[in-house]
Amino acid sequence: MPVDPARVTKKLFIKTYGCQMNVYDSDRMTHALARHGFAAVAGPEDADLVILNTCHIREKAAEKVYSELGRLRRLREARRDRTGRDMLLAVAGCVAQAEGELLVERAPFVDLVVGPQAYHRLPELLARRARASGAVVDTDFPVQSKFDELPEGRPAGGVSALVTIQEGCDKFCTFCVVPYTRGAEQSRPVADVLREARALVASGARELTLLGQNVNAYHGAGPDGAVWGLARLIRELAGIAGLERLRYTTSHPRDLDAELIRAHGEVPQLMPFLHLPVQSGSDAVLEAMNRKCTADGYRRLADALRAARPDLALSSDFIVGFPGETEADFAATLRLVRDVGFAQAFSFKYSVRPGTPAAGLRRQVAEPVKAERLRALQELLDGQQAAFNRSCVGRTLPVLFERPGRHPGQLVGRTPYLQAVHLAGGHGHGLAVGDLAPVTVTECHPHSLAGVLAPPAGPAQEARA
Ligand code: 5AD
Ligand code: SF4
Repeated sequence: MPVDPARVTKKLFIKTYGCQMNVYDSDRMTHALARHGFAAVAGPEDADLVILNTCHIREKAAEKVYSELGRLRRLREARRDRTGRDMLLAVAGCVAQAEGELLVERAPFVDLVVGPQAYHRLPELLARRARASGAVVDTDFPVQSKFDELPEGRPAGGVSALVTIQEGCDKFCTFCVVPYTRGAEQSRPVADVLREARALVASGARELTLLGQNVNAYHGAGPDGAVWGLARLIRELAGIAGLERLRYTTSHPRDLDAELIRAHGEVPQLMPFLHLPVQSGSDAVLEAMNRKCTADGYRRLADALRAARPDLALSSDFIVGFPGETEADFAATLRLVRDVGFAQAFSFKYSVRPGTPAAGLRRQVAEPVKAERLRALQELLDGQQAAFNRSCVGRTLPVLFERPGRHPGQLVGRTPYLQAVHLAGGHGHGLAVGDLAPVTVTECHPHSLAGVLAPPAGPAQEARA
């Protein structure tokens, strides 16, 4: 929604931590507050309202919030002394949800604590804060989904846009806070998703990433009265004219059904790159994690995906040092990584999260052991990632251009595998941001690729996907 400049009276800065769901939520909070006269600014220095949209997944992520709050408090006091102008400090996201009143006890200078299910109440909460003498806390899970409440119609803001289609998680992996901070699985109705997707494409998006904590557990109410799974939703979205690429994240191996695997083989817009967290390669650890998937089950899924779509590459998440993990368990994880082969992955030391079942387990793994296992795993994964990137040199891949580069005429885009690609002289070829063109990769750097424009698609080219 365009903001009427006459109505802009206040400045808003949102700092976002953690996953893409938070990025999406921050966008929608910005949009919702714009209706109430808030304009987004690039930093906290001049802001009237600062919102930290936080992550609680590991201890380090949660602790960062408190150090940032300390910094903002000093900034606020210095500015108040200098100019007399005040600043409201709000904490949103999963730390807000998990800690609620405790957060106010630990940081009493915070004005507002708002959980992810209450963002649509932000304007009302700000009004309440103006009347109250202390902090306002709202971490209620509403009966009505926030999907129904937050205004739609936010601008796409780029070639690649996010759409939340599902929120929450019922899987209860024993290490994870998400089922507690984001609540039970909830799917957005198909018609709402389609409406938002069409609006995003109409305003310039060429790629949509469907988001959910457990996105392939999607079971949205369809306009035909049936329940739609993710595969059906993807096929419908692929029919939107102008939409070149579709992705979804984060998925769970347990919910990767045959229909979705088939869609990978049949829907050209669905990118051949899938983030499919496995966490461990040991069945004993997977069982203790309550992952509901064995290591061989994961191997079979990888094989089935690649049978459907031979150029598909996988990404994953790993946790090392889960309570009770032995050297043999860890060796099984390394074995799984070697067997499957990953183009990219995230790996973490197990972090105790209060309130989760694994926090109470005996046989916690010592810190130096976790550190050594993480190092060994990352060495293996980094090697696989580098090999994958090197294997792209000489290939012609479709690249979707997302932004201009630093050099004149340069464009930066992404391959189907989310690798950044720099193309020199892109404008000279008549290309612009938002275009999709075949690029022959010529160089491979640690964090990006470089390439040259390939001639228009012919029989020797790889497909557009
Ligand atoms: N400790 C370490 N890593 C964790 N993750 C989730 N919870 C924890 C935890 N307690 C990781 C998992 C998950 C990713 C988003 O974060 O690998 O897939
Ligand atoms: Fe957490 Fe497991 Fe749910 Fe993923 S599937 S959000 S790791 S509980």
